[in-house]
Amino acid sequence: MTLQIKSLEQYNDVYKRSIEDPEGFWAEQGETFKWRKKWDKTLEWDFRKPDIKWFLGGKLNITENCLDRHLETRGDQVAIIWEPNNPDAPVKKYTYKELHAEVCKAANGLKAMGIGKGDRVCFYMPMVPELAIGILACARVGAIHSVVFAGFSATALADRIKDATCKVVICSDYNNRGAKNIPVKTVVDEAMTMGCDSIETVLVHRNTGGVVEWNSDLDQWWHEVIDNQSTDCEAEEMDAEDMLFILYTSGSTGKPKGVVHTCGGYMVYTTFSFKNVFQYNDGDIYWCTADIGWITGHSYIVYGPLAAGATTIMFEGIPTYPDAGRFWQVCEKHKVNQFYTAPTAIRALMAKGDQYVEGHDLSDLKTLGSVGEPINEEAWSWYNKKIGKGNCPIVDTWWQTETGGILITPLPNITDTKPCYASYPMPGIQPVLLDSDGNLVEGNNVEGLLAVKFPWPSMLRTTYGDHQRCKNTYFAMFDNHYFTGDGARRDEDGRYRIIGRVDDVINVSGHRMGTAEVENAINEHPNVVESAVVGYPHDIKGQGIYAYVIINQVVEDVDAFRKEVIKVVRREIGPIAKPDIIQIVSGLPKTRSGKIMRRILRKVASSDTSNLGDVSTLLNPEVVQEIIDNALV
Ligand code: WT7
Repeated sequence: MTLQIKSLEQYNDVYKRSIEDPEGFWAEQGETFKWRKKWDKTLEWDFRKPDIKWFLGGKLNITENCLDRHLETRGDQVAIIWEPNNPDAPVKKYTYKELHAEVCKAANGLKAMGIGKGDRVCFYMPMVPELAIGILACARVGAIHSVVFAGFSATALADRIKDATCKVVICSDYNNRGAKNIPVKTVVDEAMTMGCDSIETVLVHRNTGGVVEWNSDLDQWWHEVIDNQSTDCEAEEMDAEDMLFILYTSGSTGKPKGVVHTCGGYMVYTTFSFKNVFQYNDGDIYWCTADIGWITGHSYIVYGPLAAGATTIMFEGIPTYPDAGRFWQVCEKHKVNQFYTAPTAIRALMAKGDQYVEGHDLSDLKTLGSVGEPINEEAWSWYNKKIGKGNCPIVDTWWQTETGGILITPLPNITDTKPCYASYPMPGIQPVLLDSDGNLVEGNNVEGLLAVKFPWPSMLRTTYGDHQRCKNTYFAMFDNHYFTGDGARRDEDGRYRIIGRVDDVINVSGHRMGTAEVENAINEHPNVVESAVVGYPHDIKGQGIYAYVIINQVVEDVDAFRKEVIKVVRREIGPIAKPDIIQIVSGLPKTRSGKIMRRILRKVASSDTSNLGDVSTLLNPEVVQEIIDNALV
């Protein structure tokens, strides 16, 4: 049984032990799983390369731990509750036995398509059960899944398929999302015209049943390939360090990179963190509202909960459909005990008014979670009072795609909670604050750059196809440390407060975006000469996107031009990256070496121009006043 910490005293003991003897501690956690062959060595690491290996020589299949292992003890317990977009449509429930059978069928289907160990399979699907079934089927046959959030554009999808040279892309016909019916396959069809030569099959799941174009060279129906397969499929034996999945995420430079997670350590850490952070107990109903297109869905809808034998809800819809009471209606309907969502959703629902909460019975809630961005005090208090009725601890969980699991968080009813604070490190996690020269910032009541000085089982191992990039991005900034890209403060009691990114990454509604990526998209517009993108404070989204653009000819209709720019961004990345504000400028403030002074642009975008610092050393100081005078905030 996974260790579940029950008291503050125990947390302190376990934490101490996990730091003094990390290998012993994680070996004990590893023991609770089903291994085909036990590992020979618990850990080998060198951050300088980086080379990180956990449970070396161990053989397993993660789906035997998420499914087979539970069949005897909880075969008839519900594993996944699927709540549809339309509140009146039927709920689907899969017991562990049923889920096992569905995953085996899909795994046999993948094999029939020629997919096996090490092959890459892309998913471009809405939140339907077949997405969870499909990724587990990949894991069953040893294929590596790469889920692309279904809100990304065809260009973004094609980039990711090409980077991972996927053999198959699995999609739906359409996506029911709020009042919309989004054509999913059309986007895949478009991506297929963009040089995705590695794709042999497009496997289409019939979701809404709408009409789709059919390309008989590539396309096959999910039901035709999978429905008649056997419900038994021997799981492929995987090495603990074999790749489990790739998930693309944005950084401060270049195209998104494929973060790689491996089988053994990821399983151990997501299970351990799930059981402890949510204090999940048998019989509880747990709901994480994320999309499986992001790491939160991978770790805390699918792998962590299923490996822990939990009942996990998968929600197809959006928080505001049919109205802003949907989350609370679903909590009431399924008697949810642990609820995990993003601050942006909380802020949006808070803004709609309390009447959408009132009248819903939320008395089964025990723990509330928050993830993805800093949760401001107002949203925290509303969540605490209106949803938790003052007696559900809020776990403000800090982590990243790269960390695989939650690293800093309160433990409900064990450690205290404080608004805006992700609080304390999980067992096995050794965070440090560093100054920009890499010196350790010691003591409490201090601020610095957040890094981690010792490996944990679910950390990224590489970035797909480009190990050097992994090294440069995370391990080169500070010698022998993993650098997170976040700044943080440590309060008088050692709690961490995440301040936000210190690099050119912005967080819009919990979606992570590189400003360079958005700029590259904007620059595709034929009238744009150059652009600079920064984040600015946004009431609902946390950060909004402010774009400064230089154009090559006078535009008559500025509004029409802005719409075109937005269209280009939607085409290149997707609607989540569209700028909120576009300001046309005659120049961008540049240093003598030609670097854009983003600091100035950030200040203007935040209407905080009182202290711009010395601008006289700029190549073009005169442009600063113009930008301020024409600012759109
Ligand atoms: C970045 C990682 C981890 C799942 C979702 C996001 C920010 C994440 C918090 C939090 C303040 C947070 C950080 C981090 N972030 N959680 N509780 N408080 N900031 O994963 O897309 O990889 O983004 O999200 O800036 O670096 P991601």
